[in-house]
Amino acid sequence: MRNINVGIIGFGNIGTGVIDALLKKRAYLRNRLGASINLLKVCDKDLRSKRLVKVNKRILTNNVNDILNNPKIDIVIELIGGIKAARNIIIQALKNKKHVITANKALLSIYKKSLFKEAEQNNVELRFEASVAGGVPIIKALREGLVANKVNSIYGIVNGTCNYILSEMTNNGTSFNDALKDAQKKGYAEKRPAMDIEGLDSAHKLAIFASLSFGIDVRLKDIYIEGITNISDDDISYADSWGYLIKLLAIAKKVGRELEVRVHPTLIPKKHPLASVEGNFNAIFLNTDMLGEALFYGKGAGSVPTASAVVSDIIDISRSILGKSSVTLPSIIYDNHVERIKKKDDFYTRYYIHFTAIDKPGVLAKISRILSEYKISIAFVSQKARRREKLVPIVMMTHTAQESAFSQALKKIDALSVIKRKSVVIRLEEGL
Ligand code: HSE
Repeated sequence: MRNINVGIIGFGNIGTGVIDALLKKRAYLRNRLGASINLLKVCDKDLRSKRLVKVNKRILTNNVNDILNNPKIDIVIELIGGIKAARNIIIQALKNKKHVITANKALLSIYKKSLFKEAEQNNVELRFEASVAGGVPIIKALREGLVANKVNSIYGIVNGTCNYILSEMTNNGTSFNDALKDAQKKGYAEKRPAMDIEGLDSAHKLAIFASLSFGIDVRLKDIYIEGITNISDDDISYADSWGYLIKLLAIAKKVGRELEVRVHPTLIPKKHPLASVEGNFNAIFLNTDMLGEALFYGKGAGSVPTASAVVSDIIDISRSILGKSSVTLPSIIYDNHVERIKKKDDFYTRYYIHFTAIDKPGVLAKISRILSEYKISIAFVSQKARRREKLVPIVMMTHTAQESAFSQALKKIDALSVIKRKSVVIRLEEGL
């Protein structure tokens, strides 16, 4: 029986978790696979820093070619992140007929179509379970467990940093900045936390799982992206008084023959399963034609949970190398069960709007006149007591409206002299 030889490129946080699992669970994995997984080489630019796992010096290298051109290596695991160097490494590995595993969501969100094509042309696999929701096996569920299903909608909490910040603000009254610092200390946040709080990391993951679920190539530029930086304590407490929590959702939903893809803060009814997803946890709430509603929940970041996903890809590829699984499915089947991706102007949602206005007669009338001009109907309104600086928050919830009408109305309202700050908008999903 042949063994499986693995080379890891990137000895950082996730790399450490994968190496630790491969070393500590060697016998456990051998029993499950029927072959040993040998860690042949580990490559990193920095071989001096202390790591949490001990590796035999002889397998360490700072030359990627020791892995890419090593004829013994079956599987290359790319864990360096970033775009250019990671892409070159993956392409070279695939051209050299090596299977590849990556956790690189940013790279896949841009280059997935060409990279999967490269893998197919070389008759090897490119696996990416760790790129979405860390340890939660959502890619495998979509590709295999739900293979007979057509997906109607997916609502994902896929950024642990944002979910942690919003949970801390909601449950403990922690300030946005303190909660972000905490998330950075705990190691969930990206190197540049703007990637998290401005919604980009969620959009990277959405581009991947939406393509997989709807058989169409969703690119970053197709996604409407809004982060959580405008959400204040006030918004959280208004939402609370109306029975909602605020979460950053990555949404992909089929509307007729079109697909809507967007990332933005969303009001979630407190009784909805997604409302109970707190802290750095991730969750994906699906609706499919056969299973109906389903919730996948677990840790979406961190060294050990992410390593769990990488090791599951190693085992899957190893099984196919060993001939234990007769068929491997294409990574993404582009069979377009939607015709196209919807333009932002055609979205329909409800809106929570937080205006900051001068407190004087007629302000509310001015706002509602503009809304009615654009046929936007108000569901309820609240105005809290006057504040020191004589500015008052006016908070409204609309009924369902079209995005283009809404954004034109909002532009007009925000230009009124009585409105003193850019209004905060949080969408509310009719289906949740
Ligand atoms: N920064 C990401 C998060 C890490 O907060 O979820 C996992 O992709």
